[in-house]
Amino acid sequence: AGHQRHRQAGPSTPPSSPPNQSLSVQRQLYERDFPLYKQPVEVGHFSLDSERRFFNDDRQLRYYVEPEKSCPNFNLRDGYRDRFIKRDDGVKEKLDHILRWILANRSKLQSKEVAASSSPCALGVNVVTWRGHLTKLLTTPYETQEGWLLAVTRMGGTLYISEVETEAARRDQEDRTERHEEMMYWGYKFEQYTCADDAHSLPDPGGVVNTNEAFCTVVQTRLAEHRLLFSGEVDCRDKDPKAPPPPACYIEMKTSLEISTPKQRSNFHRFKLLKWWAQSFLPGVPRIVAGFRDHDGVVVSVETFHISKISQLIKNETNCWKPTVCMNFCCDFLSFVKSIVTEDNPREVHLFSWEPHRDVTYSIHRDSQYSFLPDWYIREMTS
Ligand code: A3P
Ligand code: MG
Ligand code: MG
Repeated sequence: AGHQRHRQAGPSTPPSSPPNQSLSVQRQLYERDFPLYKQPVEVGHFSLDSERRFFNDDRQLRYYVEPEKSCPNFNLRDGYRDRFIKRDDGVKEKLDHILRWILANRSKLQSKEVAASSSPCALGVNVVTWRGHLTKLLTTPYETQEGWLLAVTRMGGTLYISEVETEAARRDQEDRTERHEEMMYWGYKFEQYTCADDAHSLPDPGGVVNTNEAFCTVVQTRLAEHRLLFSGEVDCRDKDPKAPPPPACYIEMKTSLEISTPKQRSNFHRFKLLKWWAQSFLPGVPRIVAGFRDHDGVVVSVETFHISKISQLIKNETNCWKPTVCMNFCCDFLSFVKSIVTEDNPREVHLFSWEPHRDVTYSIHRDSQYSFLPDWYIREMTS
């Protein structure tokens, strides 16, 4: 029975049959037709400033400036010692910024179909979470290194999903080498070389890189029967005022080691493109600009990847990932969660847990360290 697919939760599930207690992650169970995934619609955005303060606007949105040369020689190590302010990752923000955005924009959310329908949930969405949490779900069937913990609370008919740091992740963070620590800066430095503060200015590589700053899009979409509201950081947008409206004008920036052997190309397709695809496909960001760097952190080429072309790009790769497996697993995970988390209670948390080569399981916690919906949000939503 452990290898059997879990029952679909829903109106057809008779009340006498209890939901399955675990969910298998085996790829072949998810090789079916691509599920419905509605074109994500941006319903809002917010900014976090240099001190991580929330603003209900786009003040941190940046504009992509194409490098002048195809081999730009950007030095990603520049400024690491003296012009870098790193966000304190010991501060766990959970869903707080998204919840702040929801409170500030509730009227926009509840309009349309939701108000008209007899939807049992107050917000009109089934799931509220970060894009990054969904990215982890999409890549789970192919992940062999890192597990995850996702805390889930049902309130007002909506499932809130917030990540909890695993013991392994905390250890990895503590054990990072100096080299790895520096390399985490390189991605942000690449953004600084290629992004400007407004449509008519140029990037300022002499400035400070401050990773507290962020611009986040909030999108609404539907995965099969699950109405989703999630937010994700956006690196920059097309500066052409005639570019399509968000999220279609957004651009994801990435860095990666330059590819010099067939083995490296294959690994890039099988592992890196999976993560890149999942992250951008979810919010409907259509392209990635990748800076390929050498071992010394010098960008030797820049290449654009169109998300819609990635599945073609990887087709010739043996043993490769499939978008449909990613999306079907995510969809079935959300159905699984919905069938388990039935009590509407902001103080209750179901902690869903997954380790590579295992099934997804869960435990239940009340008024524990895992409760994550803040009082200011509960108060506002229940009054
Ligand atoms: P690259 O991935 O281009 O190297 P994002 O690409 O999601 O906008 O993130 C910006 C940069 O943050 C990354 O750039 C990387 O340097 C760093 N980063 C992202 N996720 C990380 C993670 N899980 N651990 C460490 N660094 C990360
Ligand atoms: Mg980013
Ligand atoms: Mg990026």
